[in-house]
Amino acid sequence: MSDVTATKPAPAAKGMAGMVISDSSISFVDGAAGILEYRGHDIRQLAEHSSFEEVAYLLWNGHLPTAAELEEMRMESRSCRPLPGEIVTILRQLPNDASPTAVMRSSISILAHYDPESEDNSPAANRRKACRLLGQIAAVLAHFERIRNGHYPIEQRADLDHAANFLWMLNGAEPDPMAAKALDQYLLLLADHEFNASTFAARVTASTDSDLHSAITSAMGTLKGPLHGAAVQEAMVQFLEIGESSNVEPWFIKGKTTGRRVMGIGHRVYKVRDPRAEPLVHNLEMLVNATGERQWFDIARRLEEIAKEDPYFRDRNLSANVDFYSAPLLYSLGIPVDTFTCMFAMSRIVGWTAHVFEQMADNRLIRPQSNYVGPHDLPWVPIEERG
Ligand SMILES: CC(C)(COP(=O)(O)OP(=O)(O)OC[C@H]1O[C@@H](n2cnc3c(N)ncnc32)[C@H](O)[C@@H]1OP(=O)(O)O)[C@@H](O)C(=O)NCCC(=O)NCCS
Repeated sequence: MSDVTATKPAPAAKGMAGMVISDSSISFVDGAAGILEYRGHDIRQLAEHSSFEEVAYLLWNGHLPTAAELEEMRMESRSCRPLPGEIVTILRQLPNDASPTAVMRSSISILAHYDPESEDNSPAANRRKACRLLGQIAAVLAHFERIRNGHYPIEQRADLDHAANFLWMLNGAEPDPMAAKALDQYLLLLADHEFNASTFAARVTASTDSDLHSAITSAMGTLKGPLHGAAVQEAMVQFLEIGESSNVEPWFIKGKTTGRRVMGIGHRVYKVRDPRAEPLVHNLEMLVNATGERQWFDIARRLEEIAKEDPYFRDRNLSANVDFYSAPLLYSLGIPVDTFTCMFAMSRIVGWTAHVFEQMADNRLIRPQSNYVGPHDLPWVPIEERG
C-alpha cells in the first residue's frame, strides 16, 4: 500500500483566491482601498500626467524616464514596429472570421520564428524583444482588421506615438488628437495589474526557463477567456443588447432571475470600485461631449447605479471593474467589438514582459501541488474484464 497519508501542504482556496505567490516590485493593488500603483506611482496620478510610452518605460525599468531616456525609448520602439513580411502573408491566409484574439495569440507565437533573438534569454535581448512585441502586436491587430475587411494594411508612422499610430494603421486617416489621447490613457491604465491570470500564466512559462515569446503566448491564451480579457467584449455586447437607457432596469431585473452575470462588474481583488474606472469615465465623458453620442456612456452609468443599489451586488462587494467603462470607450473610438480583448493585450504586453523580466531575474520553477481527492490503491483489471 502506498503511503497516502503523507503530509501535504494545506490546500489553497479555490482559484488560489487570496494566495500570495511571490514578491514583486512592479505593481501594487489594495483591493479594499481601491488603490493601484505602478512601481510606487498611483495610477490616477500617472493617468493625469503621463503617457503610455512613459509608463512602458516605468514598468520595464523601475523608474520614470528622464526626457533623454524617454526619447531614446521612443526612437527604439518606433523603429521596431513593422511586422516581418512573412507575418503579413500569414495574416492574409487566415480565415476572415477567425477570432482576432486567437489571431493575436497565434501571431505572437509565429513572431518568435522571425525574431533574431527568440532563443536568447539574456536581460538585454528580452528587453529588445519586448520592445519589438509592443509594436508588432499592434500592427498584427491593425493589419488583420484591415485584411479581413478587404483593405490593404497600412504602414506605421514613426512620427506618431503608440496610440495615434495604431489609429492611423487601423483607419488610414490622420488620428483625431482627442481620440488618440483617450486611447493612450486607456493603454496606460491597463498596462499592468499584479498577478492577474494572464500575467501569472506568463510567469509560470518563464519560470521553466522557456523564452519570452512562449511566455507571452501563454499570457495571450489566458487573456482570451470571458472571466478575464474577453469580459470587455462581453460588456459591450451587453450594452448593445440593452440598447437604450430606459431598458437598463428591465434588463437588469431579468438577468437576476436567470442568474446572468453582469460583465464588467466584480473583481477577485477589488472590493470597491476599480481605481481605473474614474480616469476611464473622465476620458469617455470628454469623448462623448465632443461627439454628442452619449448612448453607451449613459447606459453604462445607469447600469452601474442600479447595480450599486442592489442588495445582491452590495452584499458581495461587486463594483464596476476596468472593463465596464473600457467597453464604451473603445466603442466610441470606433474599435470593432471583437477586437477589444486585443486592445487589452496591446496594453498589457508591457506588464506581461515586465513580469517575465522579473521572474527570470530571480527564478525558481513555479510548480504548485494539488490536493488529490480521487481514489487510491485500485486493483488492476484486465481490459476484457472491465465493464
Ligand atoms: C471577475 C470575477 C471572475 C471574479 O470572480 P471570483 O472572485 O471568482 O468571484 P466569484 O465568481 O466566486 O463570485 C462571488 C459571488 O459574486 C457573484 N458574482 C461575481 N461577479 C458577478 C457579476 N459580474 N454579476 C453577478 N454576480 C456576480 C457570484 O455569482 C458569486 O455569488 P455567490 O456567492 O452567491 O455564489 C467575477 O466577478 C466575474 O465573473 N465578473 C464578470 C466578468 C468580468 O467582468 N471579468 C473581468 C474582471 S477584471
